[in-house]
Amino acid sequence: MVIKQILVGFDNFSYVVYCPVHKKTAIVDPGFDTTKALQVLTSNNLILDYIILTHYHTDHSAEAQHLQKMIPASRIVCSKEDGQRLSVKPDIIVSDGSTLKLGNVVLSFLLTPGHTPGGICIIVDDEALLTGDTLFIGDCGRTDLPGGNLEEMFRTLQKKIMTLPDELIVYPGHDYGEKPFDSLGNQKRSNKTLRARTLKEFSLIP
Ligand SMILES: [Fe+2]
Repeated sequence: MVIKQILVGFDNFSYVVYCPVHKKTAIVDPGFDTTKALQVLTSNNLILDYIILTHYHTDHSAEAQHLQKMIPASRIVCSKEDGQRLSVKPDIIVSDGSTLKLGNVVLSFLLTPGHTPGGICIIVDDEALLTGDTLFIGDCGRTDLPGGNLEEMFRTLQKKIMTLPDELIVYPGHDYGEKPFDSLGNQKRSNKTLRARTLKEFSLIP
């Protein structure tokens, strides 16, 4: 499994995830310019199977349609809830526990509402966790935007994220932290939003 983290726009991360054996590939969160992601595809002879949107916000999804027009065999993947909010119709709807394969690579999906009603996180081969705007290094996504919900975010972090293995490497949707990625174990110990034990405590985090 290979993951390329690509900085786009001011501080957005897109990802290219692929199976080095079968060359099957997903681009995650093509919100801005996809030039660098397409360069990764070209230089490694990769086949784009999936365009995965962790949530509907335009800084994560704006280039999906354009990308699909360029590579018509690719399919747009997102959750039902956020799919309804996209300007493009998704081809594949994933829900909690769904999986997709990229050659030898297994993508497992978690429904992680809080930042948006249908935000998803993606576990790649039990090694990496792509968190979109659910979890950043040192913080979590905003809950005060339309469709955001503080209680749901607290539940997501406690029930869905804290229960995952420490060894997973967290790859967030924005470069907001002191480093671009980190182990989930480190984040469980240091991220204030994961350390909050009660909803009250969580709601008081500045
Ligand atoms: Fe967002």
